[in-house]
Amino acid sequence: MQVKDGLRIVGLGHYVPDNTVTNDDLSKIVDTNDEWIATRTGIRKRHFVTTERNQDMAIAAAKMAIKDAGIDPLEIGACIVATIRPDNMTPAVACMVQKEVGLPTEIPCFDINAACSGFMYGVRVMRGMLMQSDKRYGLVIGSETLSKVLNMEDRGTCILFGDGAGAAVIELSDDHRYFSILGTKGDDEVLVCPNDGDRFVRMNGQEVFKFAVSTAPDTINQILDMAGLSADDIDHYVCHQANLRIISSVAKKCKQSIDKFYVNLDEYGNTSSASIPIALSEMKQKGLLKSGDKVVCAGFGGGLTWCGAYFEI
Ligand code: UT7
Repeated sequence: MQVKDGLRIVGLGHYVPDNTVTNDDLSKIVDTNDEWIATRTGIRKRHFVTTERNQDMAIAAAKMAIKDAGIDPLEIGACIVATIRPDNMTPAVACMVQKEVGLPTEIPCFDINAACSGFMYGVRVMRGMLMQSDKRYGLVIGSETLSKVLNMEDRGTCILFGDGAGAAVIELSDDHRYFSILGTKGDDEVLVCPNDGDRFVRMNGQEVFKFAVSTAPDTINQILDMAGLSADDIDHYVCHQANLRIISSVAKKCKQSIDKFYVNLDEYGNTSSASIPIALSEMKQKGLLKSGDKVVCAGFGGGLTWCGAYFEI
């Protein structure tokens, strides 16, 4: 039984399909244009799967995170995949990760669904599981094939989303503080993706926008209170990558420079549960995450759900 209070991200990885779809490509399919999409969202392109399954992306991201952590897969005590669109109802994506990555067989591996907040939900659940595990590390993945649930005749949604996966190896730590907030307000009208009949994403964009620009700054302020820090103390903010106007509004409300907010939605669009771990993995790859850095993450999405977390690198 481990009773450490904090949590450390030991390794990060991500995978996005090679196939890119630009705004101009979409303007040939639906009545839209690059100028509208770029101005209203900040998105320039996104990556869509061709042959990849959700599990292929999750496995690739997991292998990169484990390599980055420099650990043996057999040291992992649980695997959680956050996704709204698993390849199968069963087996879970996490079970296929166990098989292909070579995780131990005597550990729990399962999927969770908290839409765009899923990865941060997964980290918090993993923390609780590690407290009862005799193994040191947990593997948390966000992986989405959203292109499979896009109505390519609905210009209000099909331009927003992309595919990809991000993964983190975490361990409990006494030296790295961790605080998190998870929230839920059940609503099946504002943002829905049914799993029978019409299986496409439907969304009231303006309502989600309003929800995001009020919830994310509130969540960040609550996290800062929990950590006993001010907004200026934070080195990096990592918001769910849905819309640059949302991230700009959050930065403004928190009285912080937009430069402290990592942005990659221009390249990937909104990858739901994968967006925050892809961003963290890219930041590490680029050398942006330095030992001792303070990071605040904030997300929001279907459910409706929201999430926030404070990490120390
Ligand atoms: O992970 C969470 C998932 N969702 C989100 O984060 C979404 C949050 N919401 C948003 O990002 C924005 O609301 C959108 C980008 C979805 C839409 O931007 P908006 O500024 O709220 O636009 P709107 O829905 O008010 O539409 C404005 C106009 C409408 O035309 P009219 O009625 O003014 O003539 C739309 O029909 O823009 C039109 N429009 C488009 N035009 C060109 C809507 N989508 C498009 C499009 N291309 N793709």
